[in-house]
Amino acid sequence: MSGLRRVTGRQVVELPDAELATLRAGYRAVLLDVGTGDGKHAVHTARQRPDWLVVGLDANRDNMRRAARRAAANPARGGLPNLLFVWAAAEQLPAALTGVAELHVLMPWGSLLRGLLGVDGQILATLRAACAPGAGFLVTLNLHAWRPPVPEVGGVAEPTPQWALDDLGATYARHGWQLTGAHYADAAQVEALGTSWSRRLRASRDRFDVLALTGTMGDAGSRGSGQPGGREGG
Ligand SMILES: C[S@@+](CC[C@H](N)C(=O)[O-])C[C@H]1O[C@@H](n2cnc3c(N)ncnc32)[C@H](O)[C@@H]1O
Repeated sequence: MSGLRRVTGRQVVELPDAELATLRAGYRAVLLDVGTGDGKHAVHTARQRPDWLVVGLDANRDNMRRAARRAAANPARGGLPNLLFVWAAAEQLPAALTGVAELHVLMPWGSLLRGLLGVDGQILATLRAACAPGAGFLVTLNLHAWRPPVPEVGGVAEPTPQWALDDLGATYARHGWQLTGAHYADAAQVEALGTSWSRRLRASRDRFDVLALTGTMGDAGSRGSGQPGGREGG
């Protein structure tokens, strides 16, 4: 698919490739938030990084409507010119979405969760193709998906940092993802993501709810900072 289906509220409009290119030229890099849901994390990130173009993408357009309408408003009324919401599935990303410098996938469910667990390699390959070499990635897994396990986890046991680094890391590597970090997120880290899950997930010392995975795409250091939260990019 060429062009982006941009959600601006109730409406969905086609954003031609040339307009996307013009928009991109005004920013230092692109951050893609896949499975953005209600878009709170994308809004939070766009506010934190006014010099980045943030793209929140989801297969379901309904949950993003509210954030999309506000983002598309006049900046004087709280609009965010550096934030786009796009209606697309991770399996079929718009062809125009290339050279992404940082990828976030927070609390995936459904086919997106299957993809990030490597149960279905197509999503890993598609997301890798949208990113620039050296792009940083941040994936956060909601461990409640294993308590009890939802069908999408496909027989994968509840992930631990060690399993992620050893087993999942090997699967990721086959698709060009270099997984370099895996840790349980504490309450402050979950809160800092700014997603609407923050209130629902209360990581504690006794029971961890979120596993954070970080790394880079392809050859580390060739483009971008390679670190989610970094301020450089391609
Ligand atoms: C639990 S919500 C998380 C939303 C948001 N990232 C957050 O942390 O608040 C998971 C989202 O993934 C989206 N999703 C699931 N499969 C997808 C796919 N294949 N492509 C794009 N989005 C997908 C769902 O529509 C849903 O909005």
